[in-house]
Amino acid sequence: MDIARTPATPDGNPEMADAARQPSEPSLIRREDYLPFAWLVPQTLLDFDLGLESTTVTATLSVARNPAAARSPVIRLNGDGITAARVEVDGEESSSWTMDGDDLLLSLPGDAHQITIVTQIDPSANSQLMGLYGSNGMLCTQCEAEGFRRITFFPDRPDVLSTYSVRMRGSRAQFPVLLCNGNLTGEGEGENGTHWAEWHDPWPKPSYLFALVAGDLVARSDSFVTMTGRNVALNVYVRDGDLDRTEHAMESLKRSMKWDEDVFGREYDLDLFNIVAVSDFNMGAMENKGLNVFNTKYVLADPETATDGDYDGIEGVIGHEYFHNWSGNRITCRDWFQLSLKEGFTVLRDQLFSQDMGSAPVKRIEDVRVLRGVQFPEDSGPLAHPIRPDSYREINNFYTSTVYNKGAEVIRMMRTMAGEQRFRQGTDLYFERHDGEAATCEDFVKAIEDGAGLDLGQFRLWYSQAGTPKVSVELRHDGSTVTLALRQQVPPTPGQPDKLPVPIPLRIALFDRNGRTHRGEELIVLDSAEAEFSFDGFADMPILSINRGFSAPVTIERDVSRDDLVFLAARDDDPFARYEAMQELMTGHLVSAVGGELSDGDRDAARHDIARAMAAVIEDTKLDDLMRGELLLMPSQTYVAEQMLVADPGRIHAEREALKASIGSALGSELDALYARVEKVPYSRSSAACGARKLKTLVLTYFAASDPAKAAQLATSQYDRADNMTDRQGALMVLAGLDTVERTVKLMDFYDRYRGNALVIDKWFSLQAASLHGNALEHVKALREHPDFTMKNPNRVRSLYMAFAANPHAFHAADGEGYRLVADLILDLDPINAQTAARFVPPLGRWRRIEPGRAAIMRSELERVAAAPELSRDTYEQVSRSLG
Ligand code: TRP
Ligand code: ZN
Repeated sequence: MDIARTPATPDGNPEMADAARQPSEPSLIRREDYLPFAWLVPQTLLDFDLGLESTTVTATLSVARNPAAARSPVIRLNGDGITAARVEVDGEESSSWTMDGDDLLLSLPGDAHQITIVTQIDPSANSQLMGLYGSNGMLCTQCEAEGFRRITFFPDRPDVLSTYSVRMRGSRAQFPVLLCNGNLTGEGEGENGTHWAEWHDPWPKPSYLFALVAGDLVARSDSFVTMTGRNVALNVYVRDGDLDRTEHAMESLKRSMKWDEDVFGREYDLDLFNIVAVSDFNMGAMENKGLNVFNTKYVLADPETATDGDYDGIEGVIGHEYFHNWSGNRITCRDWFQLSLKEGFTVLRDQLFSQDMGSAPVKRIEDVRVLRGVQFPEDSGPLAHPIRPDSYREINNFYTSTVYNKGAEVIRMMRTMAGEQRFRQGTDLYFERHDGEAATCEDFVKAIEDGAGLDLGQFRLWYSQAGTPKVSVELRHDGSTVTLALRQQVPPTPGQPDKLPVPIPLRIALFDRNGRTHRGEELIVLDSAEAEFSFDGFADMPILSINRGFSAPVTIERDVSRDDLVFLAARDDDPFARYEAMQELMTGHLVSAVGGELSDGDRDAARHDIARAMAAVIEDTKLDDLMRGELLLMPSQTYVAEQMLVADPGRIHAEREALKASIGSALGSELDALYARVEKVPYSRSSAACGARKLKTLVLTYFAASDPAKAAQLATSQYDRADNMTDRQGALMVLAGLDTVERTVKLMDFYDRYRGNALVIDKWFSLQAASLHGNALEHVKALREHPDFTMKNPNRVRSLYMAFAANPHAFHAADGEGYRLVADLILDLDPINAQTAARFVPPLGRWRRIEPGRAAIMRSELERVAAAPELSRDTYEQVSRSLG
């Protein structure tokens, strides 16, 4: 049976169950219902007659009965919006097929057959960007998760591995470059100005890793010699004119290949590795075997048009997709419930890679910020799910921060408990044991358990339970003994009211209050609901540093004095813990201020302590500037809101801005001196120079709150003198939030300067949608009418609306106008690009955690979306879960 479509039925005839389902309620796919597919597809031949408006696909599948599965008289070939022009079995036209919804069911009498199916598709009409679609005159594909079925009928599930040979033919003028997975095995001229290419991929793969690209492209070419001395040709394909912005991508690719050899012992396995950049893409990039397809955002960079953050993003995503070659392609997923098997592990691998390429502590802090800013809210809301979900209606909705980022944290915990060396023994065993297979998360855990010599019995709960564990901490001192009393609680989540305790590895240190050092870090594992850990030889109560390096993805609850936080912020030798102390200092203050618990005196005292800690950070000569920037960063509004059961976005915004202003005034001269110092650092890609640029704009954000006129003047001059996008975008970001004529002048200048560069114009939309300006909402309404705005390009849609939905003071406008704007977008976008539309539901789905007035409007906007006729499966699922 094909789990991708059909729930098991008691009468043993699952094929018929699907036909009866209501189209209005998409069926629920359950992990428990997995059954292997009845047929194997050892070989697949694809022939493409390419045209932008009409492409003819002839697929020839060699199929054989799967001895490991129950016999079935029919083969179910998935389709999505396609029709078969012709079906042949063993070379004869067949009529023994029927349609079941979108799927094609074909009766097969024997044990092995050859099936040929002809389909015709219109790539230019494919606005969903799944399957084969046109983008700027080129043709490209996106098949993960279930896009291949929009190209041809096929068992479109990740456990059906096949060897692909592909022949593609098209106009030489229109598509001078013809690319596919694997190696080029032939090419030549055809009739009427056509040409053709034949590709063969020797590695069996699931259909979601298939890719094809045809277009007018140019390449930056290079090569890499692998650890065993094989030469691999590398190409980064882009449109003519973009070639000089591909150097960083190519260098990142070569560094990734070397790093995976050095750190995980993984060698590349083809003679060719191609990357193609496309401007219309639903996500960041895709790891198709030998032919990675990337969003241009994660390929193109030069100092004039890309920020330091963009450079880091490119390195990380290039690494991520490259690392999938082993964690995803050589070992793939048995079914989509196992998505974290490849995504969690690959995110961990790209994080470790980026740590090694730059500042490890800063990278760790950035990753934790993403986790807490995106995944924690997901885990505490209506869409909470375990990293290995139990059911879904639309798999696209499960490419989540939970599956990716929490998935990475869970594997990182195994690494922390095993130590680097033993963890490597575990991953070696995993790669060896499951190479060539479609595996499960359980296979991964077992391999780490066996290879690293860990008992992960209870640890498996991290795969099945949703929700962020909460750890309450109490420190007691008695005589010369210190007792650390810990309690954990995993909160209830939708469908999971009761939870069991999970093993929580915590790296801790106890600082001597007077000696100002600690006696070595320890790793403790809290694996029960409550436990006590004792430490001897302390004359006084020490200061606790806990969850160092963010060793576990949990929230820590503790009573800690501001003095102790100031101490840790200045002295903790673990950079993450130091960052955390600064964050706790500010978050703690903001939460009490918003809760109305503070007298004026209390508020002043807290602000004074925060400013004092910041001054120490500014003056600490041992810090590098990148790290200094982290320590001077305020917690985001979302993060503060997340600490409260029910948040009032307006009040949090006001308190946070007031704190920012108080820091700007209290540290005026320190910040002036800092700005004067970093401003002199010339542009380079060195981490010192990146750090200087980070601080430059950070100082401006404080002045924007405390002294807007001064900020406007500094930002204007930073904008005018900028010789790189980091400085220019930073200055414009600050100006965009201010009420000054320079705001308009520089926004216009920026637009004129970069008109025609889509990625930079995306920034222009984002800066306005994300701005602190009081009229940001009105600006967004105007921008959606801008001639450069289009619903057809996901980058452009996200640049305006994701930036807006993440801008608390605008999105949470008290009259609900921000919610209406996002609901309107979802309704307008859903028929065009359902996958992207559904990604705008979670911001509205947070209604239970927002004060009642706003919550009611959020809910009613969700209901308005839910009531729309013909909602996509994607949006339907997200909206119904959010209301449920
Ligand atoms: N596997 C891709 C990655 O993580 C994700 C991806 C790219 C994707 N494009 C997609 C997932 C389209 C779903 C749909 O690298
Ligand atoms: Zn991935």
